[in-house]
Amino acid sequence: MADAQIIDGKNIARMIRLNLTEKVSQCSEKPRLAVILVGNDEASLVYDTAKQRAAREIGMDCQIYHLDEYVTERELLDLISQLNEDIHVHGIIVQLPLPPHINSLHVLMQIAPEKDVDGFHPVNVGLMQAKSPLAMIPATPKGILFLLKQIYPDLSGKHAVIIGRSAIVGRPMATLLLNNDCTVTIVHTKTSNIADIVQQADIVIAACGKCHTVKADWIKSGAVVIDVGINRIDGKLCGDVDFENVKKVASYITPVPGGVGPMTIAMLLANTYEAYLRQTNI
Ligand code: GUN
Repeated sequence: MADAQIIDGKNIARMIRLNLTEKVSQCSEKPRLAVILVGNDEASLVYDTAKQRAAREIGMDCQIYHLDEYVTERELLDLISQLNEDIHVHGIIVQLPLPPHINSLHVLMQIAPEKDVDGFHPVNVGLMQAKSPLAMIPATPKGILFLLKQIYPDLSGKHAVIIGRSAIVGRPMATLLLNNDCTVTIVHTKTSNIADIVQQADIVIAACGKCHTVKADWIKSGAVVIDVGINRIDGKLCGDVDFENVKKVASYITPVPGGVGPMTIAMLLANTYEAYLRQTNI
């Protein structure tokens, strides 16, 4: 069998951003995204700078609020309140993870649900569970769904196995695929027979955060493999999938970098535009 086709997330994301550039140019006011970053986590700083650059490139405003790692939870909540009340700010995200002295759930719950463009507020989590069109869908799962729909416009009946149960990827991904009529299994660190379960998947979503965890002999011939991992080993980027071997078994596969990562940013911008439209009643 031929090697898997590479899913070019970088190029698909570029087209989404191009489409958004046109839409943003017709807005009466620039949509504005506020990004809150606490502390000096290097990866978070890189991601947030990339989000800001991408937002500005499509004509949006994007301000990064870079707070000291010892900022109190109260100060952070107060900044979010200010941004909630600012009618010129349409989207707010707080980069995760937060330092251990801050309760992430308190922080996420402080963001006005209509400005919660990450979709992490319990109201948006619940709206997605309820299959409401008003739900703000988290950017990474939304981007992955977009890629999967390029391959399978109708996902009905496909068995998707998600590796990882995080609140940012695994859990919302499961809900989103269930809402699209997939059969969904989540496996995680306490699952005893991961390889056997992944073997049954038509679609594998690797979001476990460990370099090259998913091996070729876990993959059913012809399965679609999506790699969410962005791990760094000695400064080198590494996905959760053993790409070089898995590509010999899969039908489609995302690369790292250039797969899911650019889609996440494009979908964050799409959510910000959507939030702008809703807040300006267009
Ligand atoms: N940390 C890792 N991924 C994300 C994300 O999509 N949004 C936020 N806010 N933090 C993250």
